[in-house]
Amino acid sequence: MVLDSHSKVSVNVVQTDETYLCATSESLLRGMLRLGRKGIPVGCVNGGCGVCKVRIVQGEIKALGPISRAHVTCEEEMQGYTLACRVAPTTAVCLEVAGRLQKPFSRGRADSATASPLSQQQ
Ligand code: FES
Repeated sequence: MVLDSHSKVSVNVVQTDETYLCATSESLLRGMLRLGRKGIPVGCVNGGCGVCKVRIVQGEIKALGPISRAHVTCEEEMQGYTLACRVAPTTAVCLEVAGRLQKPFSRGRADSATASPLSQQQ
């Protein structure tokens, strides 16, 4: 499926149940800011602070720039974690806020809808 750069898809933030339309050519964070919506914490908007860290629960994204390993490790990336200011949606997306402004890792590990073999330890 090919989407043109003006296509918009729906983005849902689980914790706040905010839903907004984001262009497939803009980052998840910019799409939210453009509409004056809330849900994902906003920091540098340039991939440097990690405040906008999210976990993609459902849907597909594409990288718009490098994801800082200081904020998202390779293992985390495989589990769906990314920076909302560095990725654009390619399909409708459902995400959880996972950055430092959120309580760190307060949820169990069994909630991974993007089941990866890494989540099956123990
Ligand atoms: S807002 Fe700073 S890394 Fe995304």
